[in-house]
Amino acid sequence: MKPKRIGIIGGTGRMGQWLKRFFEGASYQVLISGRKTELSSKELASLCDVVVISVPIKDTVNVIKEVGPYVRPDALMMDITSIKKGPVEAMLAYSRSEVIGTHPLFGPKTPSIKGQTVVICPARTKIWLPWLKELLLSHKARVTISTPEKHDEMMSIVQGLSYFFILAIGLAVKESPFNLSEFLDHGTPFFRIILRKIHFIQQNPEMFATIQFNSYDKISRSLEILDGLKKIVEDHNYQKFYQILQRLDEIPLSEE
Ligand SMILES: NC(=O)c1ccc[n+]([C@@H]2O[C@H](COP(=O)([O-])OP(=O)(O)OC[C@H]3O[C@@H](n4cnc5c(N)ncnc54)[C@H](OP(=O)(O)O)[C@@H]3O)[C@@H](O)[C@H]2O)c1
Repeated sequence: MKPKRIGIIGGTGRMGQWLKRFFEGASYQVLISGRKTELSSKELASLCDVVVISVPIKDTVNVIKEVGPYVRPDALMMDITSIKKGPVEAMLAYSRSEVIGTHPLFGPKTPSIKGQTVVICPARTKIWLPWLKELLLSHKARVTISTPEKHDEMMSIVQGLSYFFILAIGLAVKESPFNLSEFLDHGTPFFRIILRKIHFIQQNPEMFATIQFNSYDKISRSLEILDGLKKIVEDHNYQKFYQILQRLDEIPLSEE
């Protein structure tokens, strides 16, 4: 089964434009809507075989509530929201269509999907899952099948916690008596990556705030871990510190 027409709600936005280029590149006809487009999101929903929700996280559930009843029962409703539980539950509740939650683990500046990972959470689907998987795999994407709960738990570390520490580094840079160009003059390659990521979270405040607030449990646990580490450093307990480093040996090296 292949869709005749794919609709992107939020198609005027950053990821929406990325998706439009991707689907058009795969020879699909694409319609887009935003709040100011002539075509309304409800009209788009009723016209398309696949309806993709790509709006800011804070608006996602409301948009799904609004357009869900207009998505045809034989169509597929999917979202690309960075958190999965709430949007997938809303798509199941407010539509009669097939439902698949997805999360592309890359941003709108990524030139090609080749080698990039897309998490898929099949929720109510028969005919559309094989189409979606085949589309992604044929473009050499990596597909990870997950549940909304597992995805959100993983993301609270993968995105929530890692950006929490990047934010803390950004604040430490800001608090220091040195300016940014002095930091660049002293910057390692790794530190330059961190500075770029600080810039990235600055550009996406709504998305990162929501991801942080969804990661509260992991952030709170990691602060307890940090307290333990702080104590070890305060006590100059090298032996304990080495033991902790040795435990990290269990983390396998990534293939990249
Ligand atoms: N940016 C990333 O790196 C990234 C990566 C993976 C996943 N995501 C996910 O992708 C989604 C979109 O993120 P983005 O960065 O593309 O956001 P964005 O650039 O702010 O785009 C949001 C889009 O939603 C539209 N919109 C806002 N409110 C709407 C409403 N009530 N009804 C219909 N359309 C509405 C906006 O259009 P108008 O303003 O014209 O109405 C715009 O087209 C989010 O769920 C995010 O979690 C983002």
